[in-house]
Amino acid sequence: MADLRVNMGSLELENPIIISSGHLTRTGDDIKRCDKYGGGAVIIKSGFLEKEYEKVVKPYAPGLFPDARVNFHSIGDGYLTICGLSPIPVEAWAKWFKDNIKEIKTPVIASLMAISVEGYIKGAKMFQEAGADAVEILLACPLPFLLPHPYVGGASFNPAIVEEVCSEVRKAVTIPLGVKMMFNFLDPSPLQIPRKVGLDWSTTVIAFPAAPGIKLNEVEPVIPSSVFISGSKVAKHVNFVALLNQRDQYQDIHISITGGTQRWSDIVEFIMYGASSVQVQTLFLQKGMGLIQEFKRNISGYMDSKGFGSIEEMKGAILPKLLTFDEAIVTYGKTKGKIVVSVDQGKCICCGVCEEVCNWGAIKVIDDTVDIVKEKCEGCGVCVCSCTEGALWLDNVDLIKKIARG
Ligand SMILES: Cc1cc2nc3c(=O)[nH]c(=O)nc-3n(C[C@H](O)[C@H](O)[C@H](O)COP(=O)(O)O)c2cc1C
Repeated sequence: MADLRVNMGSLELENPIIISSGHLTRTGDDIKRCDKYGGGAVIIKSGFLEKEYEKVVKPYAPGLFPDARVNFHSIGDGYLTICGLSPIPVEAWAKWFKDNIKEIKTPVIASLMAISVEGYIKGAKMFQEAGADAVEILLACPLPFLLPHPYVGGASFNPAIVEEVCSEVRKAVTIPLGVKMMFNFLDPSPLQIPRKVGLDWSTTVIAFPAAPGIKLNEVEPVIPSSVFISGSKVAKHVNFVALLNQRDQYQDIHISITGGTQRWSDIVEFIMYGASSVQVQTLFLQKGMGLIQEFKRNISGYMDSKGFGSIEEMKGAILPKLLTFDEAIVTYGKTKGKIVVSVDQGKCICCGVCEEVCNWGAIKVIDDTVDIVKEKCEGCGVCVCSCTEGALWLDNVDLIKKIARG
């Protein structure tokens, strides 16, 4: 049976599926509930120190603390969400850790936000003293009232702040320490900082900013206001890119990824792109945390069938098989006239969409047949994607791989 264990520094997780910080982990009772489902770890909802919370939230929403409100709306493959901060400040969470951590089987990671370096240091020390298994610093949160504060909200887009916070907190605590940051595809350089300053893991998150949506019949917004979309499969695909951007370091630091998990196989894909663990929130809100057991069975079954003995062995498995953009362009050039479309006339319904979308004039629908001009075909596959009947396919698609690998 495949070994699902992974490590975040000295913290051993029984499996790589983490219940991420959020609605499922708002209070101590929530953490106790999460403990029943066999996740690799659970992360408490991010909190501020009491004093900082007052400064951040009070000017915008007097009275909001300690009862932050949440509102969800399903958009099919994710949630539109407006949410507040944790109802529990660091001091109260620290007390909860002291009183309860011994009876929780699942490793519990404290999550911390602050508006100053001093706040991060003080909060992390408080969690360490209280017995938290690890601390995750949150440097990315799209809530509007956080964005004016440079040390939180959009902090992960600022390399100097990321470095300052991570290195100072690293010096202050000895328990496993990670940081959660947003991926910025225009400047992915901050993602290199956690490893440089000796953190135990780096979490990359994708959650998209969102408008509230419109009910067309009523000409009303779906919800009055919205902050972000979570859970969408588009996030998953952006996260694959975030992992590709870290392919030079995935063997040296534990990379945790969060955003867009919808099935057990997504977790396998994240790991093959270089992740060591996957943090999930929206899917568990949609379908329940009972999925964790099913996912563990499916992931280890898959690993057994493919001969991966451990997560470590499966990690990054796809990376050596990918071409760089430059390699792909050169290789495509060599396949001209060899990778070409073919048609099954029996399946074709002559709708004409393939002719319409072909930029090369390689397809003509004449009367009841589709005529393919192979010399003109560029092998791009757009016609194959447009065919509702499965009547088109590309011949010799494996040629790209063969040419690229010599
Ligand atoms: C309602 C809600 C509250 C959240 N609160 C936090 C939080 O307090 N701290 C944090 O680090 N992430 C928070 N998140 C982000 C999630 O932990 C997760 O990283 C994100 O939703 C992407 O994962 P998903 O697509 O599986 O939901 C929250 C997400 C949701 C939907």
